[in-house]
Amino acid sequence: MTLGLKTPKKQAEATRRLLTRAELLDKRYKVVRDQSFVYFPLLEPPAFDEEFSGEIVDLDFPTAEASLSLKDYLSSKLPPNLIKHLPSSWDQIGNVIVVELNPLLEPYKSIIAEGILKSHSHIIAVFEKVSAVSGTTRIRKLKLLGGRDPNKVIHKEYGVQLVVQLHDTYFSPRLGFEHYQVGKMVNSGEKIVDLFTGVGAFPLHIATNVDSEIHAVDINPHAIACLEEAINLNKNRLKGKIHPICSDSRQWAAELKRPRIFDRVIMNHPSQSYDFLELVPKLLKPNGILHFYSFEPSGKWQWLPLLKLSKALKLYGRRINEVLRVRKVRVYSPRDLHISITVRIS
Ligand SMILES: C[S@@+](CC[C@H](N)C(=O)[O-])C[C@H]1O[C@@H](n2cnc3c(N)ncnc32)[C@H](O)[C@@H]1O
Repeated sequence: MTLGLKTPKKQAEATRRLLTRAELLDKRYKVVRDQSFVYFPLLEPPAFDEEFSGEIVDLDFPTAEASLSLKDYLSSKLPPNLIKHLPSSWDQIGNVIVVELNPLLEPYKSIIAEGILKSHSHIIAVFEKVSAVSGTTRIRKLKLLGGRDPNKVIHKEYGVQLVVQLHDTYFSPRLGFEHYQVGKMVNSGEKIVDLFTGVGAFPLHIATNVDSEIHAVDINPHAIACLEEAINLNKNRLKGKIHPICSDSRQWAAELKRPRIFDRVIMNHPSQSYDFLELVPKLLKPNGILHFYSFEPSGKWQWLPLLKLSKALKLYGRRINEVLRVRKVRVYSPRDLHISITVRIS
C-alpha cells in the first residue's frame, strides 16, 4: 500500500502542479482515477495548508512502467506459459525487494532477480522469502537471489527514516499507513508505551508528530539497536522523547515502580497480543487508550476481537468505554486478517 492524496477531479490539474512543484509525487506509481476523484501517489504527506486540498488515503497504486519492462525483459528468457506466474507485487524495504515466487519459477530465480534489478535502477538486492515469520523475535529467513546483501537498510515511511536489519529484525512495509495514522492520533504531552516496538516505527512516527514521551520495549536487541540508530537519524525532526528498552515486556512491566501511568498502550504483536493483555490494567491510566492488534478470521473481524477483548478486560476489572476505531490493516493469510482496534478503557 502507498500513501496517496485523493482530490476531486476538478482540482486534479492544480493539485498535480502543486505536488510536482513540492516534489511530493511518487513517480514509481501510476496516478489512479475513478468517476469523481483522482488519486496521486505520494512520497510523503503534504503539509496541509490552504494550497493543498484533499484526503490522505492508503492505496495499492499500480507501478509505473517498471513491471511492464520486467515482463518485457523476461519475455525472451522465460517459457511463455510461465510469464503469468511472475509475482504481481512484492515488498520493498529500503532499497531491496523481497519476493515470494511460485515453485514453477524455481529454475528461473536468478534470471527473475536480474530482471527486477535491471528494471528498478534504485534497487540493490532481490531476496526470496524462504520461511514464514516465526519464533519470539518474529523473523523470517531470506535468501539472496541477486545483487548484494546490504544486511541493514534505511526504509522511509511517510518521511520517517527507519533502520531495518533484514535478517535479524521483524519488519513489514505493509504496516506503514497504520504507523502513520497512529502517529497522528496522539496528543501533545502524552506518555505512551509500545510493548512490542520492533524497529520502533510507532514511536518514531509519534515523536515526529508531537511532543510526547514514548517507552519503546522489545526483547530483540537488534531491533532496539535499529531504533537507537533511527532516533539519531531523525533527531532534527523529533518533537517527542523515545526511551528504547531491550527487555521482555512482561518483566519490564513487573519492575515498574508506579502503576497506571500511561495515557496510551500499543500492542502490535498480533500472534500473541491476547497473552499479554494482563499488562494493560497495570499500565494504562483510567480512561486511557489501547491500540490492540490481532489476527482474526476474515468473516468475523468487525466484532469477534472486540468481544474477546472486552471479555478478557472484564477479568481485570476494566471495560471498554468507547470504540474509537476498528481497522483492517492487511490480509495476513487466505483466512485471516491483521486487525487494529483502538479503544478507550475505563
Ligand atoms: C510483530 S513484531 C512488532 C512489529 C512492530 N510493532 C511494528 O509495528 O512494526 C513483534 C515484536 O515483538 C517482539 N517480542 C516478542 N515477544 C516479546 C516480549 N515478550 N517482550 C517484548 N518484545 C517481544 C519481537 O521481538 C518483535 O520485534
